[in-house]
Amino acid sequence: MARTGIEPPPPPTLSPPRGGGLGARVMRRKPVERLIAESGQGGGGRLRRSLGMWQLTMISIGATLGTGIFVVLGEAVPKAGPAVVISFVIAGVTALFSALSYAELAGTIPVSGSSYSYAYATMGELIAWICGWCLILEYGVSVAAVAVGWGEYLNELLDGTIGVTIPTALAAPPGDGGILNLPALLVVLLAMGILLGGARESARANTVMVVVKIASLVLFCAVAFTGIRAGNYAPFVPLGLGGVSAAGASLFFSYIGFDAASTAGEEAKNPQRDMPRAIMLSLLIVTALYCLVALVAVGAMPWKNFGNADAALAQIMKNVTGQSFWAVLLAAGAVIAIASVVLTVLYGQTRILFSMSRDGLVPKVFSKVNPRTGTPVANTVIVSLFCGVLAACVPLGALADATSIGTLFAFGLVNIAVIVLRRKQPDMPRTFRVAFSPVTPAIGFGLCVWMMGSFDAITWEYFLGWMAVGLVVYFAYGLRRSQLAREEK
Ligand code: ALA
Repeated sequence: MARTGIEPPPPPTLSPPRGGGLGARVMRRKPVERLIAESGQGGGGRLRRSLGMWQLTMISIGATLGTGIFVVLGEAVPKAGPAVVISFVIAGVTALFSALSYAELAGTIPVSGSSYSYAYATMGELIAWICGWCLILEYGVSVAAVAVGWGEYLNELLDGTIGVTIPTALAAPPGDGGILNLPALLVVLLAMGILLGGARESARANTVMVVVKIASLVLFCAVAFTGIRAGNYAPFVPLGLGGVSAAGASLFFSYIGFDAASTAGEEAKNPQRDMPRAIMLSLLIVTALYCLVALVAVGAMPWKNFGNADAALAQIMKNVTGQSFWAVLLAAGAVIAIASVVLTVLYGQTRILFSMSRDGLVPKVFSKVNPRTGTPVANTVIVSLFCGVLAACVPLGALADATSIGTLFAFGLVNIAVIVLRRKQPDMPRTFRVAFSPVTPAIGFGLCVWMMGSFDAITWEYFLGWMAVGLVVYFAYGLRRSQLAREEK
């Protein structure tokens, strides 16, 4: 039998209190013991435990390293100048504090719902729902946004290799001058095909892609290093600290995904031991790479030129070497890099919905498991088609920042969840403990709130609109249909 790292589940005796007014109903909590006892169970079968520490780390790196460094960096440099390196550090520190909290909770509540489940155990159903709804922004909507970035690099690659590009009509959605973003749809469908093959097979494909993307960024650093001019670093902060912080907020997008390992809790062989390690390790690797790439990039090209470069890193390679071969190689790396973000983030979204469905907050079809593959097949198809159509037909430019706000909101809740769980169940076994709690998670929470404040009004409007829709859905569906609600009847 596979070693799971999970003790034999206690019988789920902890039922919620019955009755109560609306306040009590929206505050009902799902006990940690029960979340763990139900782990892996879906309608028709169980998820299969096949992922080790290495694969979990690769899932988190896979979900993180992509559009942010290959595309968003180019958009952030004009806001901060060479100090974009500091922006990366600021965004990374914000992510780090929350990563510590994720690591503690992933080791304590090793299920697939990630922060949604942590919130359900600590802050009640409504907050959990809001968190899950934000995760749909972090995962589902960002898959679509990332798929759009993939199409841009694919065009760069096609142009550099065979001199052909996909015409705008077929490479952009209505509203952005096209009819359909075909490449974006294609990459989501490809990821769906891999995911349907099983978690272990998807993890294998992802590992190969992660190795390629890390290699292409290391290659970029090695080549662009030779083009560094000291003068490009001066002045280092040409647009003031406001610019540095605004760029940090945009670059937070590039850290989204380090928590993806926490959506694999029910398919990990030893989740309590491996998930905290995978989360921390992936964040450290990614942060180091980001800072290095940014430092080399702004040293090799004057910051003012970034505004005119579509694919900044490829452009730098071309400038430094004088040959388009290197730029094409980098574009190929980016195509693979971003495809692995689509794959792993799509995976995360399906597993979060799996948990929410098992809890009755979204329809049961999302927690049906195919007994042959041990994966949620219908869930994967529905989520992929939804994300694919979104990517192909909706102009998503403005949504990338809304995705970051939603993610920061979920991260903020994870920090609070650590504090609440420490108070409510101080003696629970924890394989990883945040040092100096509650101070550290409180700082993590504060950083998330501060960074949320750096976004502009329009992004906030998108985010608040999204939340309002989420509340309507909860009160119309989840409030009465949740598993805990049904048990109260
Ligand atoms: N962090 C992911 C990316 O940069 C979403 O593509």
